[in-house]
Amino acid sequence: MIDESTVQQILDAADIVDVVSDFVALKRRGANWVGLCPFHNDRRPSFWVSPAKGLCKCFSCGEGGSPIHFIMKHEQLSFPEALRYLARKYHIEIQEKELTDEEKQAQSEREAMLMLNEWACDYFEKQLHETQSGQDIGLSYFKERGFNDATIKEFRLGYSSEGYDELYKAAVSQGFNPQLLFDVGLCIPDERGGGRDRFRGRVIFPIMNIAGKVIAFGGRTLKKDKNIAKYVNSPESTIYSKRNAIYGLYQAKREISKQDKCFIVEGYADVISMNQAGFKNVIASSGTALTEGHIHLISRYTKNVTEMFDGDAAGIKAAIRGVDMLLKEGLNIKVLPLPPEDDPDSFVRAHSFAEVEEYIKQNETDFIHFKTSVVLKDAQNDPIKRTAAITDVVKSIAIIPDEIARMVYAKECSNLFDMDEQTILRQIKYYSDKYIEQWRKERQLQHAREQRMAGIPQTDETPTDAPHPADGYTGDTDAQQPVQDVPYSKNRSDNVHVQEREVIRLIVNYGMCYLTDTEYEDGTVRPTTVLEYINNELLLDNMSFSDPLYRHTFEIAKQYIDTYYRDLGTFKSQLEVRTQEYITEEMKELGYNELDALDSTALILALEQKEKSVNAKAIARANNELMEYNCGYLMKALCSLDDDPVRQLACELAAENLPQLSKIHTQFAVIVEERDKLIHLVPERLFNWKNAILVQRINDLKSKIAQASPDEQPQLMEQLQGLYATRHKLAAFIGDRVVNPK
Ligand code: CTP
Ligand code: MN
Repeated sequence: MIDESTVQQILDAADIVDVVSDFVALKRRGANWVGLCPFHNDRRPSFWVSPAKGLCKCFSCGEGGSPIHFIMKHEQLSFPEALRYLARKYHIEIQEKELTDEEKQAQSEREAMLMLNEWACDYFEKQLHETQSGQDIGLSYFKERGFNDATIKEFRLGYSSEGYDELYKAAVSQGFNPQLLFDVGLCIPDERGGGRDRFRGRVIFPIMNIAGKVIAFGGRTLKKDKNIAKYVNSPESTIYSKRNAIYGLYQAKREISKQDKCFIVEGYADVISMNQAGFKNVIASSGTALTEGHIHLISRYTKNVTEMFDGDAAGIKAAIRGVDMLLKEGLNIKVLPLPPEDDPDSFVRAHSFAEVEEYIKQNETDFIHFKTSVVLKDAQNDPIKRTAAITDVVKSIAIIPDEIARMVYAKECSNLFDMDEQTILRQIKYYSDKYIEQWRKERQLQHAREQRMAGIPQTDETPTDAPHPADGYTGDTDAQQPVQDVPYSKNRSDNVHVQEREVIRLIVNYGMCYLTDTEYEDGTVRPTTVLEYINNELLLDNMSFSDPLYRHTFEIAKQYIDTYYRDLGTFKSQLEVRTQEYITEEMKELGYNELDALDSTALILALEQKEKSVNAKAIARANNELMEYNCGYLMKALCSLDDDPVRQLACELAAENLPQLSKIHTQFAVIVEERDKLIHLVPERLFNWKNAILVQRINDLKSKIAQASPDEQPQLMEQLQGLYATRHKLAAFIGDRVVNPK
């Protein structure tokens, strides 16, 4: 753990242009820098870096954010890892914070397990290379399969002898705790109080995480006996979850991102043989179906995935089954059927590199096309099967998140099936709506789970007994019920959510900007920031965000108010010094000192004039600096937070304000910056939000009325009238709530 002040020091030191430049060649454009986006295959520079805002953003793929966020995304690091990276870059010494006992234990358990696995991996390698049986049995087997020494070393292949507990004894004598051996699954406890080796008499394929740490092992038997499992794998543990591990990714990841493509095969041997044959962007799901975890790992490196499989009927079926999952994640999927008698391993061994390349070129097929041809062949001329086949393909298309891709496929599908394109499009829409609904529900459940785990209360926190404002539209009790909790999603498009997002966007970007002077109940008039203003308004109307992530972000933002005022004091006194220095410098430029001797009235008058203009300029500069400081304060803090969802959201919202930057330096356009319009913008956006809530309630009530029994009707109608009245009041009220700016 890194101590708080060091974190701040690191974040302060990290300069966005400097940090990004290490990975992207940047060219200056006006006040900003541009380059090719490192997060997607960018042909024209769409990656913008704004030194003023301390942000970067790709206008094509949308990725970007603060320096720490950039490093996390680009280098695939966790928050602390990214901090350490930046600390190294800026030569900042890290002050470690004491871990709590729990943290220590969790960390040391993981570390101990990894250490044990590393030791075991080394042990298996030594067994393979340095013992008689290892060489005779294990090594000769690998050689027979055509693996060369370099390959065997690269994949750290090994051998476990036939002995009952050789590894167990060796590990214990090394001081490893037997329980740890059981926990990682290298050994299994036996009745005699000892342990037997899990991988006895097998060749070993270590499984590594993307950092190259050994997290598990696969052991293949060399016996022909059908009753013996061909592979035995490590069980799930703190460090190994099958759902999130991909065999070969550590060795392949560089090549995958370089080629922006990867091949997925089935087995360990397939990965290794293809790698040795020169196809280094190959990974395996190791016999399990692909999970979302696998896909997220892969899509860090590429969106282009080609699935290789045996060309026999079973292989084809299996290939088609798993793929909808990949489509759903927006991956661009191709398939490469091999000749029926081959698997990737045998295929690459039987052909030259050039032959395999040619085969790929000829046979790699877009997945939807492939599926269409397979199901069409299946259906032949049976009309019922044909309908089912079309539905089957349509469902696959519907799951693709990109609308344009869906439309392109719809067109092709209508050609292949010789069917009306509109009909196909309608069907696609039907299923994609269904998927979206299903996805939304899943997200909702998952989000609720996450929130519960993060300790964020599920119910609305605003006290229901908050003092009622004497007047104002909140007289209506119905208007005070919290809006139904719907989780954050970029795609949620109901108006309440759109308006909420706009308000949280203003908070992230301008939270600490001065908005207006407010007269408080104790009679004092104090300057009020955007954040404080919004907070006051929400308290007054007993409202809160319906989206849990927005609410959480808002709560975090409020925690910065005190630190902001403290830091502001320091900043202002520094600013004052800088401003004085500036005035002195400018006066020197004017030759004030030399002219001092002259006593011509005209000259003195001219000088006074200049002095005035220098002062005015200095004040304008200082005001601008202060404004920028205020604007950036909350944005920078939230964009560098060790809270993934909040930081992600803040980076997204902050980057949304960047597009205007590109116009600022076009000398013809007069840009009115949003920050200069806040006094109108903030109350207006709050109004829009409140209004959206009311409209939603009115609509809900209307549909309730439509279904209500006659004796329920009058009461509901009355409620409806109440909502209308409230809305009316709100409209009239908007004018009053805006306090005039100074
Ligand atoms: N697998 C497994 N347990 C089994 C069988 C298979 O975990 N009992 C996994 C392994 O990850 C294996 C993959 O499924 O690599 C594919 O299985 P298979 O094609 O049988 O294995 P290969 O790796 O091709 O092994 P070989 O060529 O040595 O037979
Ligand atoms: Mn095989």
